[in-house]
Amino acid sequence: SAAEKGGYDYFMLKEIAEQPKAVADTLLGRIDGSGSLTLDEVRIPPRVLREIDKVVIVACGTAFHAGMIAKYAIEHWTRLPCEVELASEFRYRDPILDAQTLVIAISQSGETMDTLMALRHAREQGSKVLAICNTNGSTIPRESDAVLYTHAGPEVAVASTKAFLTQLVACYLVALYLGQVRGTKWGDEIRAVIRDLSSISGAVERVLGTMEPVRELARTLASKKTVLFLGRHVGYPVALEGALKLKELAYMHAEGFAAGELKHGPIALIEEDLPVVVVVPSPRGRSVLHDKIVSNIQEIRARGARTIVIAEEGDEAVVPYADHLVRIPATPTLLQPFVATVPLQVFACELATARGNEVDQPRNLAKSVTVE
Ligand code: G6P
Repeated sequence: SAAEKGGYDYFMLKEIAEQPKAVADTLLGRIDGSGSLTLDEVRIPPRVLREIDKVVIVACGTAFHAGMIAKYAIEHWTRLPCEVELASEFRYRDPILDAQTLVIAISQSGETMDTLMALRHAREQGSKVLAICNTNGSTIPRESDAVLYTHAGPEVAVASTKAFLTQLVACYLVALYLGQVRGTKWGDEIRAVIRDLSSISGAVERVLGTMEPVRELARTLASKKTVLFLGRHVGYPVALEGALKLKELAYMHAEGFAAGELKHGPIALIEEDLPVVVVVPSPRGRSVLHDKIVSNIQEIRARGARTIVIAEEGDEAVVPYADHLVRIPATPTLLQPFVATVPLQVFACELATARGNEVDQPRNLAKSVTVE
């Protein structure tokens, strides 16, 4: 009913709008006044976590993209090797797992059969499994050694939005917590990250307030056949997520690429007026990556692409090459996915509407897939 949708036309719009609160709620009570993490709910003893020598993330769909982003944070902050694998592929390749492996299973519903089978396999090999889940008492947390719940609230639209952002929060909390219990050098950077995480909900709110031009742009692209997405570093999984949203909702051919791979193949796809969305890393921090992406934008534009550039406020280098410029607040590199994903959700949702598609219930898809 209209009331359930809180005045929005679709659950998806409501859930996109709820993201600042979902992010804040998932942080709530988990960082104390001194900036330390209190994750008592993660019932794997610190003694066990100190012995871990590898992290493996398993998930499907949007949750898999959250896992891909988490890998950058986990390896950077904990120096533990981290693999991310599609749950449906995981157990069939005879993965190397033992009691020193921490497996993180990410699932909004907690009922995805592929993810459940992956975690069962991991536990059979003696690994500890930590679930990151949005649904209290669902099967995946019940079968795991521990669970860290995301507090997104019920997600109704089939295409995941707010759950994704809260999965990122939860993964980052786990990464920082691993650092904390393992005594990773608790440098200024980590302290700064915790501070920045606390302000990320406000940054998401600000992005939401600037989405009208993105909606307008989406409407003008309603008759396109293909949209490509490029990104680097954590912007690469964001590009994959942008493409997935477009497939799910707009039924358009969409692909995400690592921008560095452009020259190894995808650049052959570029033709006159092809929309290409580029997620640009911050010019601060890893500025090498920023400069490389700016050359990619130049290259594809020289070949006729219509460039849709997502770049942080104050990044002037991209301006000459952007046919459409979407500004996002400046954040540290690892936190950019929180703000860069939002315009891609809005873009896909509006394109779907413009094409007359059912936004909340896309054809052929289910909210949770309980078969393998
Ligand atoms: C289905 C949904 C996707 C979701 C995926 C994983 O395919 O349509 O939106 O990302 O399952 O779901 P989960 O509940 O495990 O996060």
